Amino acid sequence: MPKQTPFGRPVTELARKRFSCRSFDGRGLEPEQLEALANFPVGLDLPFASRLRFGVIDREKVRAENLFSTGSYGMIKGARFYLAALVATDAPRPWEDIGFALETAVLYATALDLGSCWIGGIFDRKNFARALAMKANEMLPAVVALGRPATRPSLRDRLVRWSARGNLRKDPAGLFFAGAWGAPLPLAAADPWSRVLDCVRLAPSASNKQPWRIVRQGSAFHFFLHRDKAYGKLMPLADLQRIDMGIAMCHFQFSAAERGLEGGWADNDPRLPDTPGNFEYIASFVAR
Ligand SMILES: Cc1cc2nc3c(=O)[nH]c(=O)nc-3n(C[C@H](O)[C@H](O)[C@H](O)COP(=O)(O)O)c2cc1C
Repeated sequence: MPKQTPFGRPVTELARKRFSCRSFDGRGLEPEQLEALANFPVGLDLPFASRLRFGVIDREKVRAENLFSTGSYGMIKGARFYLAALVATDAPRPWEDIGFALETAVLYATALDLGSCWIGGIFDRKNFARALAMKANEMLPAVVALGRPATRPSLRDRLVRWSARGNLRKDPAGLFFAGAWGAPLPLAAADPWSRVLDCVRLAPSASNKQPWRIVRQGSAFHFFLHRDKAYGKLMPLADLQRIDMGIAMCHFQFSAAERGLEGGWADNDPRLPDTPGNFEYIASFVAR
């Protein structure tokens, strides 16, 4: 029997329902709704215990006409609100924690029937930083556009989805492994974890690269990042692929909890032989 989630709806359902919405109706939201969204990740136990500060930016209020430069691959239409998380520059693992926290807000927004889209690429960091009174020792790696989806996605929206192959996901055999890199873990044989892993598979990721790789060893699930080095050079301002890892951890943890599968995060690198040079160990979920 699935357990109640903090989202009020099953995480596995929300993970299926969510998509990157790039056409909004441009209208306002209830102030209580905005407050609830900004506060939703507050007090959450983050995997690496960063202290984050959240803020909602109302584009109309800050009167920032051109928040996005035209270079973004995801030009968003009609978005009025953005949810942002600021993190101290000296936090040990800020990227994963930002990914984890903002994705919980994304799932919550999905439960409220709102649309959302992560923006980690090109956005006017200066304008956002000013609107959030960002301090010298803080950074703003990414934001999430929020609002009611437009009734019809714009042509641009459809083009971006098509070019980012937004609907496609990798085959589980390339993502999940049974004890060793050469041994794919078939989802059908992974029960009761198959739904949890599938929920990770559906998660959003920068340019839909789905960089998460998970190796199961008994009760431990080791998370690795398949690093795309060229991508890091293209997007030097934020480690978007580590943010992706935090997002995957969020989907994993909440969908596991919902199925009554208890556990926690640990630093438990299995030092697997033949780990490719561009794979980075991130963390392990150890089930109890
Ligand atoms: C960290 C991160 C950064 C992203 N940055 C952008 C962005 O700058 N512009 C954009 O249009 N989409 C962005 N996306 C959305 C991805 O392109 C999208 O999640 C992916 O293509 C999968 O599509 P889906 O979210 O509809 O399932 C980002 C996603 C993540 C997780």
